[in-house]
Amino acid sequence: MSLPLEGRSAIVTGAGRGLGRAEALELARLGAAVVVNDFGQPGRDGSGDASAAPAEEVAAEIRTAGGRAVAHMGDVADHQQARELVELAIAEFGQLDILVNNAGILRDRMVFSMSEDEWDSVIRVHLKGHFNTTHFAAAHWRARSKAADAPVYGRIVNTSSEAFLAGSAGQPNYAAAKGGIVGLTTSTALALAKYGVTANVICPRARTRMTADVFAGIQEPAAREPEGHESSEGGESSASDGSSAGDGSEGLASEGRRIDPLAPEHVAPLVGYLASPAAAHVNGQLLVVHGGMVAVVERPRVAAKFDTKQDAFTYDELDALLSPYYADRPAGETFAAAEVLGLKHE
Ligand SMILES: NC(=O)c1ccc[n+]([C@@H]2O[C@H](COP(=O)([O-])OP(=O)(O)OC[C@H]3O[C@@H](n4cnc5c(N)ncnc54)[C@H](O)[C@@H]3O)[C@@H](O)[C@H]2O)c1
Repeated sequence: MSLPLEGRSAIVTGAGRGLGRAEALELARLGAAVVVNDFGQPGRDGSGDASAAPAEEVAAEIRTAGGRAVAHMGDVADHQQARELVELAIAEFGQLDILVNNAGILRDRMVFSMSEDEWDSVIRVHLKGHFNTTHFAAAHWRARSKAADAPVYGRIVNTSSEAFLAGSAGQPNYAAAKGGIVGLTTSTALALAKYGVTANVICPRARTRMTADVFAGIQEPAAREPEGHESSEGGESSASDGSSAGDGSEGLASEGRRIDPLAPEHVAPLVGYLASPAAAHVNGQLLVVHGGMVAVVERPRVAAKFDTKQDAFTYDELDALLSPYYADRPAGETFAAAEVLGLKHE
């Protein structure tokens, strides 16, 4: 039986490490030829010299496993380098079919302390980085679709975060960029549907260098014990950001070890699915994914509606309607969906 992504070509940005690496390996395992992009800087805040090594190592890992891959060392937030990335995929593999936008950095600070550079750099890498690659991939798909006078095959998987969904007080730049990526995704999904292209967005959670300190309190699982011996560890642990991570790894292990419930390998199969022909009717959707669990998050719904009794609202009329409404709402409740942090594998 042929693999679901056989004959497809893919770009995964920021694939030299962490989630992007796991996603590139999974797309290759499912049959895709992969361009492994990474800028390779040593700092998770985007500091230090760019390096080709992370992307080259992952591309080599894919080739060693029998797959097809090339490395691209480049900054996705640079418009020209993003163009070269898409052109490389087309030159190497004939066309582009799948774009996974994943590259990202962190520069956390409370809003009252954040510098202009901390704001700009995170918005630039995440939001502009997603736009740049999407722009060139979309132009490629639109041109091919117009030439063929028929839809083509295109898949975009973007990367947002629970920091946007649930709010994150210490990450105003990151939460805003991740919210922008959701807006970019739904806009792109609507614009490209007629060309045969889908765009979806995931909110992953995984132990990577980006979250090493957040999840430091959650132990990786020990080696699997022999049959009949119950391991004492497992159960629920709490991350320092208030999120919880249940041990959803039972039965997902290979080579005698249980998979870390926070392993990036829990996220990658969903990216493979969204990139596949099976997901042709999944478009403009947002899914939370981690630790053996996938949650479909629905669009916001209108909770209440008020109509003026005059030609237009006045301050007094709004005060009379909205103040009692908000007085009855639970204290601390905002537009953010804090409950997503409690999602876990059961
Ligand atoms: N780890 C989590 O729990 C988590 C949660 C929510 C969202 N995310 C998102 O998942 C994505 C991957 O994060 P991760 O946890 O694997 O982090 P990571 O730091 O392990 O990997 C990010 C990779 O992106 C690369 N990169 C950074 N800037 C780049 C640029 N301008 N151009 C190309 N490559 C660049 C880095 O070199 C690095 O290899 C990010 O978008 C992140 O915001 C992660």
